[in-house]
Amino acid sequence: MRRTALTTTSLALTSLLALSLTACGQEAKGGSRYKADDGKGGTVGIAMPTKSSERWIADGKNMSKQFQKAGYKTDLQYGDDKVENQVAQLENMITKGRKLLVVAAIDGSALTEVLQRAADAGIPVISYDRLILGTKNVDYYASFDNERVGELQAQYIVDELKLGEPDKDAADSYNVELFAGSPDDNNTKYFWNGAMKVLKPYLDSGQLVVRSKQTKMNQATTLRWDGGTAQKRMDDLISKHYGEAKVDAVLSPYDGISLGIISALKSAGYGGKAEPLPVVTGQDAELASVKSIIKGQQTQTVFKDTRKLAKQAVQMGDAVLTDKKPEVNNTKDYNNGKKTVPSYLLKPVSVDKSNTQLLVDEGYFTAGQLK
Ligand code: GAL
Repeated sequence: MRRTALTTTSLALTSLLALSLTACGQEAKGGSRYKADDGKGGTVGIAMPTKSSERWIADGKNMSKQFQKAGYKTDLQYGDDKVENQVAQLENMITKGRKLLVVAAIDGSALTEVLQRAADAGIPVISYDRLILGTKNVDYYASFDNERVGELQAQYIVDELKLGEPDKDAADSYNVELFAGSPDDNNTKYFWNGAMKVLKPYLDSGQLVVRSKQTKMNQATTLRWDGGTAQKRMDDLISKHYGEAKVDAVLSPYDGISLGIISALKSAGYGGKAEPLPVVTGQDAELASVKSIIKGQQTQTVFKDTRKLAKQAVQMGDAVLTDKKPEVNNTKDYNNGKKTVPSYLLKPVSVDKSNTQLLVDEGYFTAGQLK
């Protein structure tokens, strides 16, 4: 009872505030939906999903630094991978009159109501890395070419197993298992579709075999990208489907998942001379995974320079707030169910043992960190 009463009061207060903010913005700006008419100096709200992965910590830090350099203050919040936390954080940002929201959604479909309130208050929204779904109230999207990420992972498997090359010594067929990302993250289907586009001809010809027969995305997803969940699924796949047979490759969409998969493989005896680890892909070039690649365990990752993504989002945000047109390079591929969101997509890069030096050359890690 008490909670309901409190929620109602705070909702009423927030709506009042939102109304007055809209009124201010419209007065000053002749009806623009943005209230950011007072130039630089306001506060930008940055809502990131979790601190459990290095990349989001870096994304948050990079954006804060760059927004501050551009003359804004920042309010950086992490949702601990709980949807209700992220919604509450966004509500709070709206109440506090943040000028702009930059959001990497935990659940892309769960922000419709809160973003309506942002719109009512005249606050523009940038969807960061993950597309926010089911609402008109998202102005721009900054990300990487997500389908390309999946293609790079799958192509790596194809090349490593030499599937495209007629090779006398090659086995007739190879066993692969497939992992997908979190079902509530819009990126998951892009990674999956990109990968399946590349793998399909080999699955169809029987050169690649999924012994578990779990070939549909909804059989392969990993809630909240959790490494422990992936480890458990890999344990099950090995014990149920790989008696005498061996796993030759695992499509993994993200480094945290890859490390879980590798733990399961090691517990099942892979990783020694007799039974080397299979090809295991990944994404994000997280430090632990890059070290694992150097050690010869994880095989590949996809490097997405979070500094560049942050820069893009900051440029977009600054442009929106200063009435300029943000730079976009894709205006057709990212429909969120309510609108096609103008997007800027950066290029992902495949990294394996042969080119980890790139990460040092680019200043992403120091040589010391990779030792
Ligand atoms: C995705 C993101 C990936 C990876 C994953 C898990 O949305 O695009 O790069 O970070 O989340 O955090």
